[in-house]
Amino acid sequence: MEKKIVLLPGDGIGAEVINSSKEVLNAIANKFGHSFQFESHDIGGVAVDTHGTPLPDETVEACKGADAVLLGAVGGPKWDQLPSHLRPERGLLGIRKALDLFANLRPVKGFEKLLHASPLKETVINGSDLLIVRELTGGLYFGEPSERRDNGNAVVDTLSYTRKEIERIVDKGFQSAQLRKKKLTSVDKANVLESSKLWREIVEEKKADYPDVEVDHVLVDAAAMKLITNPDQFDVIVTENMFGDILSDEASVLTGSLGMLPSASLAENGVGLYEPAHGSAPDIAGKGIANPIAMILSAALMLRYSFGLDKEALQIEAAVEHVVNDGYYTADLQVENGTLLNTVEMTEQIAKYIDNG
Ligand code: NAI
Ligand code: MG
Repeated sequence: MEKKIVLLPGDGIGAEVINSSKEVLNAIANKFGHSFQFESHDIGGVAVDTHGTPLPDETVEACKGADAVLLGAVGGPKWDQLPSHLRPERGLLGIRKALDLFANLRPVKGFEKLLHASPLKETVINGSDLLIVRELTGGLYFGEPSERRDNGNAVVDTLSYTRKEIERIVDKGFQSAQLRKKKLTSVDKANVLESSKLWREIVEEKKADYPDVEVDHVLVDAAAMKLITNPDQFDVIVTENMFGDILSDEASVLTGSLGMLPSASLAENGVGLYEPAHGSAPDIAGKGIANPIAMILSAALMLRYSFGLDKEALQIEAAVEHVVNDGYYTADLQVENGTLLNTVEMTEQIAKYIDNG
């Protein structure tokens, strides 16, 4: 298979870990006989410095013409004082919007060797393995009106969705469930919110299209509690934008480090964008010690969701699991009796396992 992949390294450790994903993808290409072409473009602070804007037009055009996009991270103290239209984060919001990335998929998987790295009890998180499918371009963060009123003494935000917006994310939830354990939990607040009532109706309607998937509904407050008391009961969770934002950060506690969490942002038919859940980590940038695993697992998601290469994606995931459970770790993780590696060494271990595995 021949694919063109746009790399958006961005700032800080983004630029360091993006190389790791490239190296691992090259190992996959060699092993399975694919050809991946890479092309790098600027986004975020580095783009502000060289192009005067966090999202140059040529970057948008390149992404639109690619088969998939891998993004490192953007931001850093250097650009914190800039006016908001020049902030690096604008580049990220801009590219999500330009590519209409309505579905954010965040898999959360605990690793045997890292069980004690979480503040939660090992017995609770042991074996936790779930996927959150979050709506990314609608809901409270985009609804109008959103403004101050009454001389600033009153405010309004709007939680608005159309049927079409809900249908496409619910479809994505069902399809994701079909690729996993065929178990879907829809999270809403249907006892209070109109938007959630429509959401629940649509999930019920869609059941007929996916008869192989078992579905249940959980209210968001209960879901927040269950996620950290009994994560085992979840496989795929589908939910609206803000609920998903909150629940996915909460779920990250199950894994022990931000450096382990990948994500996929998908459009209806267009290009997908894949990025680690973490930011540019200015405190460790330039030291070569960043954990590349979140970025590498994001590349695995790209193979699965954009290219349909599930076997290859599983190969990367197995390599990561193997290396971590063998006791190799980076400085953000605490592993007893393990081997501390830097970014390049960790990448090489994972690539080596792919070559030999
Ligand atoms: P952060 O995720 O960059 O860092 C939080 C903490 O986790 C830091 O101590 C960092 O060293 C550590 N960390 C994160 N990823 C790591 C990795 N792969 N390996 C080892 N340690 C890791 O979040 P923070 O500090 O709040 O934000 C820093 C900058 O990143 C800000 O400018 C922020 O706006 C931006 N940011 C960008 C995101 C993106 O591009 N998607 C997401 C979140 C923040
Ligand atoms: Mg968040």
